[in-house]
Amino acid sequence: MHTGATPLKAVSAKAKPLRGTVTVPGDKSISHRALMFGALAVGETSITGLLTGEDVLRTAAAMTALGAEVERRGQIWHVWGRGIGGLREPADVLDMGNSGTSARLIAGLLSAYPFTTFLTGDASLRGRPMERVIKPLSQTGARFVARAGGRLPMAITGSSLTAPLSYVSPISSAQVKSAVLLAGLHAPGATTVTEPAPSRDHTERMLRYFGADLATSLGQDGAYSVKLTGQPELTGRPVVVPADPSSAAFPAVAAILVPGSSITISNVGMNPLRTGLFATLMEMGADIQVTNARDEAGEPVADLVVKSSRLHGVTVPAERAPSMIDEYPILAVAAAFADGETRMEGLAELKVKESDRLTAMAEGLQSCGITARAEGDTLTVRGGRTRATNSAPIAVNLDHRIAMSFLVLGMAAEGAITVDDATAIATSFPDFIGLMNGLGADMREIP
Ligand code: S3P
Repeated sequence: MHTGATPLKAVSAKAKPLRGTVTVPGDKSISHRALMFGALAVGETSITGLLTGEDVLRTAAAMTALGAEVERRGQIWHVWGRGIGGLREPADVLDMGNSGTSARLIAGLLSAYPFTTFLTGDASLRGRPMERVIKPLSQTGARFVARAGGRLPMAITGSSLTAPLSYVSPISSAQVKSAVLLAGLHAPGATTVTEPAPSRDHTERMLRYFGADLATSLGQDGAYSVKLTGQPELTGRPVVVPADPSSAAFPAVAAILVPGSSITISNVGMNPLRTGLFATLMEMGADIQVTNARDEAGEPVADLVVKSSRLHGVTVPAERAPSMIDEYPILAVAAAFADGETRMEGLAELKVKESDRLTAMAEGLQSCGITARAEGDTLTVRGGRTRATNSAPIAVNLDHRIAMSFLVLGMAAEGAITVDDATAIATSFPDFIGLMNGLGADMREIP
C-alpha cells in the first residue's frame, strides 16, 4: 500500500481489556540513519530490526539509486557503502513519498555532490517547508530550485565542499541538524550546528558509533551545539534498531485508557530526547513501569509494562516539545479521557508535520464531541469520562499519526470512531491494526 493510493477507511470500536506482550516496529529515525550512514561508510553495515515502513523503504531506494548496495536477507538488512564522497548521480527523480526525514536528510547529503538530483514526494510532503534546510545548505555553495515557499519538487545541484559550515538554527529540529551534519561530513575542517534546545541525537550517536569525531556541548541558555570533524572515514558496523517509542506510544496509551488492561511493550528505545510522552503520562497518573533497562548499539532500551490508569490533566511546557514532538496527537487522545484540562504549549512545529496536527487534533476531537481548542501554538483539551463518537469520518490527510491516534480513541470511547484513510499508517507502523487487535482492539479496514 502506498500513501496517495486509493484511500481506505478504518473503524475502531470499543476494545476488550488489553493483554499480552508486543514488540512494535523499529525506530523510524534510527532506521533512516542506519541506511544513510551505511551508504557513506566503508564496508558492510548489517541492520537488525530495521523498520520496513514505507518511509524507510524510500530511503533504502534512494541509497540504492545513489550507488550504495542495499539488500535484505531474511530479517537482516545489509548495506555496502561507497565511502564519504563516493555516491553517484541518480538516473531518475528520487521520490521520498511521505517522508520528511528522507527528503531533508538526503538534501543535506546531496548538497556535497557536484551533480543534480531531483526530489519529490506525495501531496503531504510536497506541502512541507524545505526552506529550513535550503537556507543552511546554500552556505555550502549548493544550489536549490524549489517551488514557491521552498516546496518540493526541488532540484539540488551540490558543490564539492571546500569550506566547513557553521549554522545556528532558530528551531530545534533533528532533521535540520542532521542535514547540516550530513553535508559537513563531506567538508574539510569542523562543521558546527547549534539549536535552541537539543532535539533527538540519533545522528550524533550513530556517527560516533561509525567512527566520526564529534563534540557536543550544552550552553547555559540551554542551546545545544554539535561540532563535527569533516571527512572522517566511517566504518560499516552492525546496528540494532530499538522499537520506536513513537510507535509504542499507541499501544501504551490504549492500555492506559481501556479499563482492565495490562500489557508489556518490549525493547522500546528510551533515548531521553524521545521519552517526553512517557514522562508526561506518568505525571498525569499513568501506571507505566520501565523494566529491564539496557543499552544496545549506543541507544538505551527497556521494556514497558503499562496498565490502565485514571489520568488527570496537566500543563505540558513548551520546553518538553522536542522530546515528544511526534506524540502530541496521541497525548491529546489521552487528555480527552483525563480529569480536567490538559494544556500543551509551544506547538508551532506541529503545524508543519505530515499534516497540520494542531488543527487536525482540535477539529478531530471536536467532531467526536470532545472540548478541544487550538489557539496560537497551544492545544487545550478538556477531558472526562468521554462518550465520544463521530458521525463523519476523521480526515487523516495522509498523516499516519492522526489515523492511529483516532483509532486508539475509538478503543476507549462509547461509540466507534472512523477515519477516512488508514493507508498512511504503513509509513511507520505497517501492521498497526493486526498488532492492536492481537491485544484486544476491535479495528478493521472498510473496503
Ligand atoms: C525526525 C525529526 C523530527 C520528527 C520526525 C523525525 C528525525 O522532525 O518529527 O518524525 O528523524 O530527524 P523535526 O526535525 O522537523 O522536528
